[in-house]
Parts: sequence; C-alpha cells; structure tokens
Amino acid sequence: MPARVELAGFFIDGMMMNTPVQGAQIIDGVVLSQKLRAEVTLRVQALKARGITPGLAVVLVGENPASQVYVRNKVKACQDSGLHSVLEKYDADMTEVALLERIDALNQDPSIHGILVQLPVPAHIDASKVIEAISPAKDVDGFHIASAGALMTGMPGFWPCTPYGCMKMLESIHFDLKGKHAVVIGRSNIVGKPMALMLLQKNATVTICHSATKDLKAMTLQADLIVAAVGKRNVLTQDMVKPGAVVLDVGMNRTPEGKLCGDVDFEGVRQVASAITPVPGGVGPMTITMLLVNTLEAAERASQSHA
Ligand code: GUN
Repeated sequence: MPARVELAGFFIDGMMMNTPVQGAQIIDGVVLSQKLRAEVTLRVQALKARGITPGLAVVLVGENPASQVYVRNKVKACQDSGLHSVLEKYDADMTEVALLERIDALNQDPSIHGILVQLPVPAHIDASKVIEAISPAKDVDGFHIASAGALMTGMPGFWPCTPYGCMKMLESIHFDLKGKHAVVIGRSNIVGKPMALMLLQKNATVTICHSATKDLKAMTLQADLIVAAVGKRNVLTQDMVKPGAVVLDVGMNRTPEGKLCGDVDFEGVRQVASAITPVPGGVGPMTITMLLVNTLEAAERASQSHA
C-alpha cells in the first residue's frame, strides 16, 4: 500500500479546499456545490417574496435503476433549496405520443419553469423528438437545438449542466482560460461539444479528441487544461499530463471491485497536475447544482417577461 498523502487546507473565495502537501490541489465539488446552492436558496427566497416559486418537472419513463437514483437526487436537491418539483413516473410502455402530450401540458403550466426528461428513454421513443418538444424557455438541461445554437453563437440560453459545472469549478480556482490550450476528450452532445464551446467562449485554444484521434497522448501533453469525458477508466494517465496542468474528470465508472471512479487515473495524475477533480465528489455534485441554477434562471426570466 502506498503511504497516503497528508492533507492540508487553505481557503479560496471563502471555501475550504483540500490540498495535498505534494501534488495537485483537489477541487472539491461537494464544497463548491454547497456554496452555490446556498446562493440559489437566497435567490429562490427573493423570488418567493414576489409570489413566484421556481418549479421543475422531472419526467422518467421506464424503470432504469440508475435513472431512478438520478431523478430522486434531482427532486431532493430542489426540495433542499426551496424549489417546487414534481416527479412524473411512467411505465416503460408509455407511447411517444402520450409523452409528447405530457410535455406539451408542462410547457403550458405556469407553475413549471423547467422540464427535464431523464435519458435514456425506452427504445420505441425518439429521444430527439422528445427534447425538441420541450419549450426552449424551459429547457433547463440545455439539450434543445435552440439551446445548443445559443451556446454556439454566444446568445443567452441554457447551458448543459455538466460542462456548466466544470466552468464553475475553473472559476472557483481562478483559472484564466485566455490563451490556454484546453484538450477535451470526448465529443458527446451533452458534455464534450458544449464544453469545448464554453472554453472557446473564454478564449481558450480548444482541441477536441475522440475515439478516432491518432495520438491522444501527443495532444494531452500540450494541454494546460484537460477535460476527460469519455466514460472509460484510465483514459488519462500520469505520463499523458504536462506538469502543472489542470484536470477535470467527468467520467463515472466502476473499478472491477465495484468502486466508483472517473476516466482519470487519479492517484497518478494528481502527482503532476496543479489541480484535479476527484470522483466521487467532483464534477458529479456540480451537475445537479447547475440544474438548480438553470431552473431558478428560467423562473427569473419568466418573471421578467411577465413583469
Ligand atoms: N441522463 C444522464 N444524464 C442526464 C442529464 O443530465 N439529463 C437528462 N435529462 N438525462 C440524463
């Protein structure tokens, strides 16, 4: 067993950060989430004082066990921060037409400011049809084509929660992206592509790597920032990281022993990186936090448009 690194603490922005005596600063997603959720709670109270309670509808079709946990956590997070939330659960044999009708009703419902259909949906339902049926004004997942287009063109819109959470983590360590080389590993519509656009918007030079990238290590070794979002263990190892780089780990995987882990070889990479997110306790909690932020924002925008 290698000796455990002693942990010391210091404060950034009033937040306690756990920092190894040697190696990378650990960016704690739980602590940052607590801070941001406290801000959400205050803004929710201010809206409630004006007679508006931000509301999120979470729709789950089928019995996917992981999805059941995710939606429960989302609804609980809403309750903890004072938002109204409804969880609508439907059998796996719900028709696409019936789901589209439910979305239409939620689009019209003034007590609902955000609508989230948990993915994946059963195979007989076209997920893109469902996402495009959600009103862009209530698209708090940021998956609608209108939201993607807004992000691409720098217009106001909802940002997908996971990469948005990553941006908040970089902000929390005062990482100035201007002129930095950022390498994003993964090109999903939910994380990789929006992540690259957000980094570009902050004036980073961005490279997107994926399964067909010829020499991943040659790319990552040039990076000042690496975001790993592939969904595969040990995609990023110590020998692939330039000393002092910042590493964000979006992966959610299991070791053969069943332990939760990310895409990054955490113990190896923390020795060379200047800052790194752990799994669990890193990007994961930030995703739900940014869902709360988006829902609150949707309610604030709706209240302004009706003012
Ligand atoms: N399934 C896995 N992650 C997500 C998410 O962030 N939003 C939705 N709607 N479904 C998911």
